[in-house]
Amino acid sequence: MTDTSWTSKRREILEEHEEIRARILEIETELDRLLDHPAQPGESWELPGLVEALRDQFRRHFEHEESGGLLWADSECYDSEMLRLVADLIAQHREFEREIERILSEFDFSFVPGKTVQSCFDGDLRNLISEFAVHEAAENVLLDKLVARVEKQRRQLP
Ligand SMILES: [Fe+2]
Ligand SMILES: [Fe+2]
Repeated sequence: MTDTSWTSKRREILEEHEEIRARILEIETELDRLLDHPAQPGESWELPGLVEALRDQFRRHFEHEESGGLLWADSECYDSEMLRLVADLIAQHREFEREIERILSEFDFSFVPGKTVQSCFDGDLRNLISEFAVHEAAENVLLDKLVARVEKQRRQLP
């Protein structure tokens, strides 16, 4: 694979990271608002829709990263340390998917006081968000390292 295509792949992934970050900001804003103005049982609220949208973005993004749109397809570009990191990152994708599905499946709160349930979601979602920030930061570092390696290999060609 040429360094130009790695550069454009990196750009695509970084753009997706930005789009996901924008959705997460919407969720954080909504969580802040809900802490001040809890939704009442039976009342419609925006949070489940936002989290569903994030779940769909996660699915598309993880599939893109794992199906060669990102790094994993070209394993000869990795050293063994990078390969271990890639395996960890893929395992984390499955954990994020399980966790967001769990949160979504518990969103029906019609029989529990709104404020209690919302504080639970607040904690769970903010945990998910901060773990995801660590995940994406690791990927961004890996991408930079990968592009640097590919560029170095290209310079060493006769
Ligand atoms: Fe990822
Ligand atoms: Fe990512």
